[in-house]
Amino acid sequence: MRIGFLGDGNITGTVRRLIADRPYDVDGAYARADEIPDGLDLLVEAASQDAVRDRLLAVVARGTDVLLLSVGALADAGVREAVTAGPGRLTVCTGAVGGLDQVRALRIEGPLSAVGIETRKLPTTLIQPWMDDALVARLRAGDEEIVLAEGPASEVTRQFPASANVAAALALAADAWDIATARVVADPSAKLTRHTLHASGELGSVSVVVENEPTPERPRSSAVVARAVVRSLDDIARLRGFEAPAGVAFS
Ligand SMILES: NC(=O)c1ccc[n+]([C@@H]2O[C@H](COP(=O)([O-])OP(=O)(O)OC[C@H]3O[C@@H](n4cnc5c(N)ncnc54)[C@H](O)[C@@H]3O)[C@@H](O)[C@H]2O)c1
Repeated sequence: MRIGFLGDGNITGTVRRLIADRPYDVDGAYARADEIPDGLDLLVEAASQDAVRDRLLAVVARGTDVLLLSVGALADAGVREAVTAGPGRLTVCTGAVGGLDQVRALRIEGPLSAVGIETRKLPTTLIQPWMDDALVARLRAGDEEIVLAEGPASEVTRQFPASANVAAALALAADAWDIATARVVADPSAKLTRHTLHASGELGSVSVVVENEPTPERPRSSAVVARAVVRSLDDIARLRGFEAPAGVAFS
């Protein structure tokens, strides 16, 4: 399977290291000024929400399959429509959370009645450019719990583009952009990043608590995410008949 990476940052670097011994042919990682070549079996997007809008849509439109990490970009209905229009096939990586498979199964029976996620992280990892000086100072002091956002998942994912991809992933899996909520809490005791998600429907409910070790060199990001990409790559390779490590695909 011939793959390329859009974005050459932390996740791409870790994934490339993790798949060094796997039977995948890595063409390269493309930075802002690089062209994305034709002929890839899969482009792994590990760049930014802007990159999804500015670069990925054209790649999907010309027929390249994509594995997407910056799920927050799909909070925009126009981007969502364009990226799922094909002909390139879109796979959304589960990234930092689990349970989305079950949420999707529940959704088949009909609209879900409640969908929500809470994310708790160390205060300094949640500082954003739009925050005022007083709030940034409180986050840097790191001696109090602060609810930084609580509202529609689509809105929260825009406020915290790097930390609330999980909110967009849940809303997408639940097909519930109208009711999905998200809450982001700065928590000085959160040594591990904790995501607590819940979804209820006619056939039952899902509650999942995920506790992720931060990436040592990038505390705002969870170490498991690069492993989720490797898991996706292996499953895509198996299901599409490319050479892949022994094992089974989970879907
Ligand atoms: N779905 C999830 O659960 C989840 C979890 C963690 C991170 N993410 C997302 O994955 C993405 C990558 O994360 P990371 O930690 O590797 O970030 P990073 O900042 O380490 O790397 C991103 C790289 O992409 C580059 N980039 C940005 N815009 C670009 C563009 N238009 N074209 C080409 N390159 C571009 C940046 O210069 C940077 O080198 C981010 O959008 C992040 O929010 C998703």
